[in-house]
Amino acid sequence: MATATAEQTTAKGAHRTVTKAAALAALGGLLFGYDTGVIGGVLPNIADEFSLDSPFSKGLVVAVLLAGAAVGALVAGRLADLLGRRRLVLLTSATFVVGIAVASLAPALALLLIGRFVIGMGVGAASFGVPLYIGELAPPSRRGGLVSFNQLCITAGILVSQLVAYALAGHGDWRISTGLAVLPAIVLGLGVLGEPESPAWLLRQGREDEARAVFDRIRGPEDDIDGEIRDIQDLAQQERKADVSELLGPKVRPALVVGVALAVIQQITGVNTVIYFAPTVLEQAGIGSKAALLAFVVVGLVNVIMTIVAIRLLDRVGRRPLLLWGSTGMVVGLAALGLLFVGGVNGTTEAVLATAALCFYIGSFAIGLGPVFWLLVSELFPLRVRGQAASVATMANWVANLAVAVSYLSIISAIGGAATFWSYGAITVLSILYMVRAVPETRGRTLSEIERDLRGSGTGGGAAPATATA
Ligand code: BGC
Repeated sequence: MATATAEQTTAKGAHRTVTKAAALAALGGLLFGYDTGVIGGVLPNIADEFSLDSPFSKGLVVAVLLAGAAVGALVAGRLADLLGRRRLVLLTSATFVVGIAVASLAPALALLLIGRFVIGMGVGAASFGVPLYIGELAPPSRRGGLVSFNQLCITAGILVSQLVAYALAGHGDWRISTGLAVLPAIVLGLGVLGEPESPAWLLRQGREDEARAVFDRIRGPEDDIDGEIRDIQDLAQQERKADVSELLGPKVRPALVVGVALAVIQQITGVNTVIYFAPTVLEQAGIGSKAALLAFVVVGLVNVIMTIVAIRLLDRVGRRPLLLWGSTGMVVGLAALGLLFVGGVNGTTEAVLATAALCFYIGSFAIGLGPVFWLLVSELFPLRVRGQAASVATMANWVANLAVAVSYLSIISAIGGAATFWSYGAITVLSILYMVRAVPETRGRTLSEIERDLRGSGTGGGAAPATATA
């Protein structure tokens, strides 16, 4: 009896340690969401102060952060393997602090652009490093929910930025909105100092004693720590040091293709046209800027709520069903939006209907492609190249994000809302066909098992009917 209680306490302690580390690291997600979301609300204010009137100069202010994110994701890939996952998160926090300070105090446009580029590097590094770090700490049975906690923080960050935009509407000071983000950045850096390093990374460095000490903190008595260590060591031994060319070799390429394809799909199905531009489009529907921002807050709220639903389901029903059903819902939302735009969205009723369609669309994204992409990025790749491969997929996500962000307003003004949303719908249908064929199920499997499956038989996930090599 006494032993059972002691074991329970230990299991609970391990549970708590992992949850705390994941929650802290996920502050990186909050910064990702806030820093990308805030621009929608502050852009007019920035444009006023620096007398930006061309769409190009405004677009540049938006895009420079996304470009920084692509660079940040790539650089972080190397650093994660060199320095370790935890130190990468620490460095990410420092990058945020520097970027936010430069941007929010910038006396001239050039410095604002530099500051936003540096913030972008932090965002890119966080978007890659946080799921990786959490994924390697989490036990397989909780990995889906814990890694996706990061996505929840992204959506929460976006929502906070929308609320700030709403609160400051009309008299906003972009410097305050930009500078506010320094607080979570500092908490992230100070907090992660006390957290454990990823045991998988320690084992790759041959630091077994330290890895075991970490496992003792993050696994309960019912977990097979020796088995997990042996699995990681076996895989590490089978393949010596990876070089970049190995990413394109026959063993890694199948997973990399799936990762990069999902990265691009997550963006070219249009999510950030909503996040960055919904108020602009709703305002054009004639509902007034304050009402448009309010509708935007509602969209953000649905994004958060449906992400919570996804977190509850990911480890129960699996990744694939959520991905496929969520994407199907996106098609429905886009089709409805397209229909509404056929005659032009004019007046309150139509704006309300458009907001409902946007909510349906974003809710469907939040239950599928939103969390599942970032989760799979942390799960799909073999350990020895995980850092580099995940960073390539992450970079692809940011480059696709950039491409959509800079083209969207021109596309919608060239071909109109209906054709634009239907095009995104058609792209989503094609994406679903690809995902049915190519994306493996990873629920409940250890990362080593997933690696062995992908490598050995060339099939995608053992339990799943799909193959990752397709
Ligand atoms: C995407 C972001 C997007 C966000 C919306 C993330 O998974 O990577 O580009 O803004 O979801 O919730």
